[in-house]
Amino acid sequence: MIINGSPRAPKSNSKEYALIFSKYCNIDSDYYNLSNSNHQELCRRMEEYSDVLFVFPLYADSLPVGLLNILKYMEVNPPVNKPVLSVLINCGFLEYSQNEVAVRMFKLFCKQNKYIVGAVLMLGSGEAILNTPFRFVAVSAIKKLAKSIEIRMYNTVKATMPLPKILFKLAADIYWTKYGRKFGVSKKMMQTMEIESKKL
Ligand SMILES: Cc1cc2nc3c(=O)[nH]c(=O)nc-3n(C[C@H](O)[C@H](O)[C@H](O)COP(=O)(O)O)c2cc1C
Repeated sequence: MIINGSPRAPKSNSKEYALIFSKYCNIDSDYYNLSNSNHQELCRRMEEYSDVLFVFPLYADSLPVGLLNILKYMEVNPPVNKPVLSVLINCGFLEYSQNEVAVRMFKLFCKQNKYIVGAVLMLGSGEAILNTPFRFVAVSAIKKLAKSIEIRMYNTVKATMPLPKILFKLAADIYWTKYGRKFGVSKKMMQTMEIESKKL
């Protein structure tokens, strides 16, 4: 069972990562988007699966709130047959280690609620990597994750773009400045808190 925990699930990078996972995993899988209203349904269905893979982005060094909410639900309403829980987490920054705190939070949840921790994939540069010549790095890491779940030898896999930080920063700067321009937003405007409001 693959659960996409991105708040922008239908258009997310997580969706693409989940699709790549399904393509390379040799065991049958079903894909679900997490929403505010399907926790009960997902938890009920979870009982039918040996493994659950949560695919989600890093948000403020942590788990997106929708994912936290389903974990809370699972805490109070645990499935009778608990599946093994694996994660594929991607973050925007270059370093895959940015995901470490979130992975530790996830493992703590498993420990406190008696779920077996399965495989982990920590992916850096997750917003960008699929649209660059380094796509193969992400695909190869996802293949490893899929294999690890398939043979039930649960591993931790880590991957990111093989670029020096300075180059990554420069490329990101150019990309986001151009992106903002498309919507009439300058770099200076993006550097203010007002970017979060509708004032611009
Ligand atoms: C509200 C918000 C918070 C984020 N926080 C982080 C962060 O703390 N560290 C990081 O590396 N990336 C952060 N990101 C970037 C996302 O993890 C990244 O864009 C990811 O690819 C989004 O995946 P998705 O399309 O599956 O939602 C954040 C993005 C948003 C929108």
